[in-house]
Amino acid sequence: MLKINENYLKLKESYLFSEIAKRVQKYGAEHPDQKIIRMGIGDVTLPLCGAAVSEMEKAAAEMGKAETFHGYGPEQGYEFLQKAVASYYAERGISLEEREIFISDGAKSDLGNILDLFSKDNRVLIPDPVYPVYVDTNLMDGREIVYLPANRENHFLPLPQPGLEGDILYLCSPNNPTGAVYSKEQLQKWVDFAREHGSVILFDAAYEAFVSDGSPRSIYEIEGAKECAVEFCSLSKTAGFTGTRCGYTVVPLALNFGGVPLNRLWLRRQTTKFNGVSYVVQRAAMGVFTEEGQRQARRNIEVYKENARLVTGTLDRLGIWYTGGKNSPYIWMECPGGMGSWEFFDYLLENAQIVGTPGQGFGENGKGYFRFSAFSSPADTAEAMERFRRLFSR
Ligand code: MLT
Repeated sequence: MLKINENYLKLKESYLFSEIAKRVQKYGAEHPDQKIIRMGIGDVTLPLCGAAVSEMEKAAAEMGKAETFHGYGPEQGYEFLQKAVASYYAERGISLEEREIFISDGAKSDLGNILDLFSKDNRVLIPDPVYPVYVDTNLMDGREIVYLPANRENHFLPLPQPGLEGDILYLCSPNNPTGAVYSKEQLQKWVDFAREHGSVILFDAAYEAFVSDGSPRSIYEIEGAKECAVEFCSLSKTAGFTGTRCGYTVVPLALNFGGVPLNRLWLRRQTTKFNGVSYVVQRAAMGVFTEEGQRQARRNIEVYKENARLVTGTLDRLGIWYTGGKNSPYIWMECPGGMGSWEFFDYLLENAQIVGTPGQGFGENGKGYFRFSAFSSPADTAEAMERFRRLFSR
C-alpha cells in the first residue's frame, strides 16, 4: 500500500495565511454590513505599472500570431530578462553572469524547491520569528531545525551564536515579519560564519526595494557571499506581481560544496521539474526593469512607504513599541495591554474590523507581537489608523 510522507502530519493544520483568511471570511459572513480593512497578508493593492502592462500586451499580441508565437521557453528564463536582472544588480556594483540568474514564478516556490539539492540529514538554522515557508518546507522533508531567537534584545536581528549551528541557514533582510534590516557588518558576520562552517545561506531579498537608508539590498554586497549564498528575489512586492508571478533566484557559479557546483545542480533540477515562467509574464517583468518601469515601480513603493509612515506615526503617538516600517512594508508591534497575538487579532477584528497577522504565527518568539502590512490603499490605511487611534485612546 502507498505510504504517504508522514512529515506532512507534523505540520500545523493549515498555512498561516490560509488560517487568517478562513477566520476573516467567517467574521465577514457573520457581519456583512461591516467594512473590514486588510493589513494582514502582504498582498499589494496598486495595479501593475504601465511599463509592465504595455510589454505584456505586446507579448500577448505576439502569442496570437504564428510568426511571433512562443512555445516552450528556456527553463531558466529568457535571456532578455536574465540580462535585465543582471543590469539591475550591476547598477549596484554587483556583477553577475546571465547563467547565474534563474527566472522563477516567485521567491516562495524556489525557497522551497532549492531544498531538492540538499540532503535531508542537514541541520537547518532558522531565525524565529520567520516567514513560515522556511520552516514548513523543511518539516516536509523531515530535516532537523535549530531555531535562532530573534527578540527585542537583539533588535530582531540575530547574529551567529556559539552552539547554534546549521548547514542550511535562512536570512531575510529587510525581514519578514519584523521589518528589521541587517547592516553590512552584521551580514559579514553571517557570511564569515557560513564559510567557516561550510553552510549555505539562503538569502531572501524579496523586500530589497524598500531599503532607503543605504543598508544592504543583496547578500552579494558582502565580501565572500558568492561562495556561500543563494539569493531569492521577487517582483511581487517590488512591482505588484503577487498575482502575476515572477521572480529570480541567483545561484553563483562560485558556489560549490565538496567540489559540486550548486549552479549545475539547480539547472539540472529546473530543466527537469520546471518549464519556465510564461513568455508574456517575463515580458511584463522586463518592462519593470526599463528606466520608465523602474520609475513607475519606485513611485508605487513610495505609496506603500507612506502607508507605513502613517502606521508608525500612529504607534508613536500611542506609545506602542514597534520595529520595522522604515526600510520595509512591515511593522512589527507589541500587542497592547499584554494581549496574546491571536487574542489581539480577534480584538482588532471585532472592535475595529482591521486584519493584521498574529506574531505567534511566525514562531514562538512572535508571541505577544503583531504584524501590520503597509500594502493596503492609502485611504484604507488612513481609515484603519483612525479606527486604531480611537480604540486605543479611550
Ligand atoms: C506575507 O504576508 O508574509 C507575504 O505576503 C507572504 C508571501 O510573500 O508569500
